[in-house]
Amino acid sequence: MSRQTTASIWDRPQGYGLVSRTLHWLMAALFAVQFLSAILHFIDRELPLARTVWGLHYTLGFTLLVLVVLRAIWGVLNLRTRPPHGHGLVGLAALGGHVALYALMIFVPAVALLRAYGGGRGFAVFGFPIFQPGTRDEALMEPAHLLHGPAGWVLLALVVGHVLMVFVHKHVWREDILGRMTRGRQDDASVSGPASTGRAIEQN
Ligand code: HEM
Ligand code: HEM
Repeated sequence: MSRQTTASIWDRPQGYGLVSRTLHWLMAALFAVQFLSAILHFIDRELPLARTVWGLHYTLGFTLLVLVVLRAIWGVLNLRTRPPHGHGLVGLAALGGHVALYALMIFVPAVALLRAYGGGRGFAVFGFPIFQPGTRDEALMEPAHLLHGPAGWVLLALVVGHVLMVFVHKHVWREDILGRMTRGRQDDASVSGPASTGRAIEQN
């Protein structure tokens, strides 16, 4: 059985291409820091470590928003050739889980940026002004006051569920789902149907 890594930039039914894999793991690493900053902020925002890591929260959050938009565009371009989600309820749950991850990866930072805009104090990332100081508008700030933190925690819960499901695939159902996202190929299953349709997988 081959354990080769796939160098294609495009996604294929057997596994994700270089672009999708790079974006997935880069963003997973940045999300780890982002959630660490939120957890420390929640526990005790005055801790020296909490203050240091919180210093990255806005910049990292903005960077993640830019990356998820690029990732979503790339995902749409590759939609027809991406690895399939599988059949039945489990497949539907996997698809729903991924859609929910995308929705929250966009909603959580977007609503915070709207609040920063409404705050009227301007916003800069890496020294580049994203928006200039302006007038304060409470209505633009309210959605984030209500939802930014709670939706951020729901996103964290979904990520934990997502990672647990990878373990379930591997150790309970004996499917090498992880290989799709690491080597770019799933070695324990063959893909039926023409590659361009990205349809069902047959388990060994
Ligand atoms: C995907 C990116 C982001 C995630 C996952 C995230 C997550 C979180 C979480 C879980 C909290 C709650 C922390 C607590 O209860 O102490 C929080 C708070 C906060 N975040 Fe973010 N955040 C992101 C992006 C941003 C961005 C882009 C900004 C600013 C433009 C921002 C500004 C804030 C502020 C001011 C708070 C404290 C007030 C509040 O809880 O709403 N965040 N964030
Ligand atoms: C240790 C951490 C992680 C592991 C082991 C992991 C593993 C995987 C694997 C194996 C897949 C392919 C699943 C399939 O083809 O059905 C995948 C896809 C995906 N993962 Fe993760 N993941 C991790 C962290 C994250 C994080 C932090 C996020 C987002 C906040 C995320 C979002 C996604 C999304 C949206 C997909 C669908 C494919 C795509 O559009 O990129 N993952 N992940």
